[in-house]
Amino acid sequence: MPKIILTGDRPTGRLHLGHYVGSLRRRVELQNSGLYDKIFIMIADAQALTDNAENPEKIRQNIIEVALDYLSCGLDPSRSTIFIQSQIPELCELAFYYMNLVTVQRLQRNPTVKAEIQMRGFSDNDADQNRKGTPVGFFTYPISQASDITAFRGTTVPAGEDQEPMIEQTREIVRKFNAVYGETLVEPEILLPENSACMRLPGTDGKAKMSKSLGNCIYLSDSSKEVKKKVNSMFTDPGHLQITDPGKVEGNVVFTYLDAFSTPEHFAKFLPEYACLDEMKDHYRRGGLGDGTCKKFLYNIMEDILQPIREKRAEYEQNIPLVYEILRKGSEAARAEAARTLADVRKAMRRDYF
Ligand code: TRP
Repeated sequence: MPKIILTGDRPTGRLHLGHYVGSLRRRVELQNSGLYDKIFIMIADAQALTDNAENPEKIRQNIIEVALDYLSCGLDPSRSTIFIQSQIPELCELAFYYMNLVTVQRLQRNPTVKAEIQMRGFSDNDADQNRKGTPVGFFTYPISQASDITAFRGTTVPAGEDQEPMIEQTREIVRKFNAVYGETLVEPEILLPENSACMRLPGTDGKAKMSKSLGNCIYLSDSSKEVKKKVNSMFTDPGHLQITDPGKVEGNVVFTYLDAFSTPEHFAKFLPEYACLDEMKDHYRRGGLGDGTCKKFLYNIMEDILQPIREKRAEYEQNIPLVYEILRKGSEAARAEAARTLADVRKAMRRDYF
């Protein structure tokens, strides 16, 4: 069976370091590994609209931002098909059929949907007086996501932990479909980040997750100055007042980021007094290592990673029509692929009348 990657992001804003360590960096590695037969990277604009129906222009503008983030991180349109979800109408038809294989009760139990409904104040029993209710499209997006994955016969979905319930639901839909209509669809697997710091990169303020609304993100497109400011304002150990005091690395955002980003090469290049992160952590715990030194090191690492990304972004920003052309071509190729799967699905469901 061919090995096929399908993954994507909602274009609700520019991508940040959480996206980078959660999935983006991995995608580029997998792309360059040559181990995959096909790679599809989707900008999920239709999914973004499920809770942004009133903001179509915002989603439109962010499609380009996300595409620029992809290209500047090294996704290469000659090796990965980058496309826009709404340009593939076949996905809607697949979702329409899959809807019959999923119960309302099962959707209500999806932990990610549950948490997101809560977070957005959509819930009926929310204490908030401005109850908005849950848009049906939002409630059913796990089904649409099953279409996204199966349309491309995705075997591998590199994504963050929050996407696990989505993949699980997709797998259930695939099994049900194949049991009822005959072996047609492929069951995907999620590929999670390799360590827990990457799994859920906290915001610069130490809050559980980077989120635009909390203003605690470092964006891939931030300038050096912005990155420096954000690193310097990072939450550390509030009990570590003097350099000589013993410090805590658990819950210390600077160290969590070092867990996610630092390599032995970074130590050799910027902080050769330590061979590796464990040595540095030991010193911090013992006392005698100041937050300033740790932040400076982290800033150097961030710049090492972000500077080439920034340069590439600046190049593509000079040529937005080229970016659109990449997306148009990608969408055309993706559509052909989805059409093949849809034809198989219709046939299996005995909807191939003529
Ligand atoms: N839900 C993903 C996000 O929140 C975006 C997405 C849509 C996706 N369809 C997908 C991810 C299919 C992986 C596979 O960013």
